[in-house]
Amino acid sequence: MQLYLDTANIDEIREVSEWGILSGVTTNPSLLAREGRDVKDVIEEIAELVAGPISVEAISTRAEDMVAEGRELVKLGDNVAVKIPMIPEGLKAVARLSAEGIACNVTLVFSSGQALLAARAGAAFVSPFVGRLDDIGADGIGLVRDVVEVFAYHDIETSVIAASLRHPRHVMESALAGSDIATVPYGVLESMVAHPLTDSGLERFLSDWESLQRAVKPEI
Ligand code: E4P
Repeated sequence: MQLYLDTANIDEIREVSEWGILSGVTTNPSLLAREGRDVKDVIEEIAELVAGPISVEAISTRAEDMVAEGRELVKLGDNVAVKIPMIPEGLKAVARLSAEGIACNVTLVFSSGQALLAARAGAAFVSPFVGRLDDIGADGIGLVRDVVEVFAYHDIETSVIAASLRHPRHVMESALAGSDIATVPYGVLESMVAHPLTDSGLERFLSDWESLQRAVKPEI
């Protein structure tokens, strides 16, 4: 499973790209609003830092306008994928943009039926939202598992991006469900890196090393 960062924050992207684990980035209007910067500048900066796909959302709700937005968004970087909401107008836009060779990521997917429709319209990616389903007492990871199974059963090449992930368990359950990609907030990646036994183990190694240095240090 590939790991994408779910953010529009340049510092977070720069830091994680140095970890050597980053295969792409997903943004959305809320994440971009949090940065309070010109969207074009932000996306161009991300495109310089990340070689893999960068999802940027069209904010129109009419197919015609989404198509026009998509055509503009891909000018910001070769690797820009246009995020399109899972609505009938969105499907029309995906059909047209994908016919032009523009990669689309269908977002706000909450059922396997929606995922199948998005894939058949030509989406390169579909994003089932795990956390938001869990929030209403539904089974977010179950949705990822179902979408992966339907796509495998019918040889559908659309990639599944497990999205709206809230904690490391969501990430690893997405991996076990067979998701192609997980898009992960920075804070969740930080939690995945950390383990108290790693910290205490490292502290012990370093202090033992110090003791050894003191023991073998020649007396002056
Ligand atoms: C996915 O591409 C979305 O940007 C994101 O995962 C939404 O997550 P949220 O439910 O935490 O807002």
